[in-house]
Amino acid sequence: MQTLKNLKNEFDNELNLISDLEKLEKLRVKYLGKKSELTELMQTLKDMTNDQRKEFAKEANALKEHFSKNLQEYEKKIKDEFINKEIENSEVYDITLPNLVKLGSLHPITIVQKEVEDVFISMGFCVEDGNEIETEFNNFEAVNVPKDHPARDMQDTFWLTNGQVLKTHTSASQNRILRKYGSPCKVIFPGRCFRNESLDASHDDTFFQLEGMMVGKDITVANLIYFMKEMLSSIFKTDVEVRLRPGFFPFVEPGFELDIKCVFCGGKGCQTCKQGGWIELCPCGMIHPKVLELGGVDPKTNQGFAFGLGLTRLAMLKFNIKDIRQMNGNDIRFLKEIKTR
Ligand code: FA5
Repeated sequence: MQTLKNLKNEFDNELNLISDLEKLEKLRVKYLGKKSELTELMQTLKDMTNDQRKEFAKEANALKEHFSKNLQEYEKKIKDEFINKEIENSEVYDITLPNLVKLGSLHPITIVQKEVEDVFISMGFCVEDGNEIETEFNNFEAVNVPKDHPARDMQDTFWLTNGQVLKTHTSASQNRILRKYGSPCKVIFPGRCFRNESLDASHDDTFFQLEGMMVGKDITVANLIYFMKEMLSSIFKTDVEVRLRPGFFPFVEPGFELDIKCVFCGGKGCQTCKQGGWIELCPCGMIHPKVLELGGVDPKTNQGFAFGLGLTRLAMLKFNIKDIRQMNGNDIRFLKEIKTR
């Protein structure tokens, strides 16, 4: 019994000197572990008389309880002290102060680009990036616009001194993508384009397009109409009606202008559709055999459609933005207003 008393005193003294969890664990092993003195003393119970055993077991269990309880309390005390020290050393925040950090928002073009990408991805298309600086070949010759072709006048181009160009349209990536994927492929490729334009409410010198191509066997205009209708219905959250009118682009044959029935007035005529009931949205067509050939795809056994959506103008339409110059105007109030719409 005296040994038990001595053990208790030893434990109490040692515990008082402990200041970290590692030492506390060592103390637990020393006094409660399998090889502890208390465990060894318990093994001598069998050599005691009944009365001695009863009394000794009672005291030994009480001591065990004392060790466990104090070790637990000490652990909590060490942890609390650690947390309090951390709080004391950390910066103090006044949580009653107003939050002065203004959260930004996505640009309307980014919002629409992400939406269009999501729809096409859900229909099995992959998304590719394109260069902003392009070779003359990729921007023009590869899409069947040879030197001195009058179609070059449609795109007043920024030429670099090394003969390269700031991409005038996303079609400049067609050749690279055809060479990369071959047939069959379903790819969209958004990108920033540049033209030496006279600026007005609907023309900027820097704007975004989102191009798409589907190439394979037996691809027809019906596929083109289906994918465009699906995408536009998803963007405008209504069943959009589309129509095709003939349109000329040297890289498609036949070529079209795709219009949508005005989603604001349902075709009756309003300010947005200039009373016409239809909105011109996206040039498109069946990829010209020469473009396929230059891209390494056999035009005798493959067909494909391509479209060049004016992403900036689509975003303007969706968010009812009347002047394109606001898009690159860098005015935070404009973005803030879009965010709250
Ligand atoms: C083209 O750029 C063709 N590459 C599109 C194409 C691709 C046709 C594949 C067929 C097959 P266009 O020059 O019309 O076509 O431009 C396409 C769209 O870009 C226009 O409908 C318009 O929405 C947008 N766009 C063109 N110029 C500007 C500009 N200066 N500012 C804002 N958007 C513009």
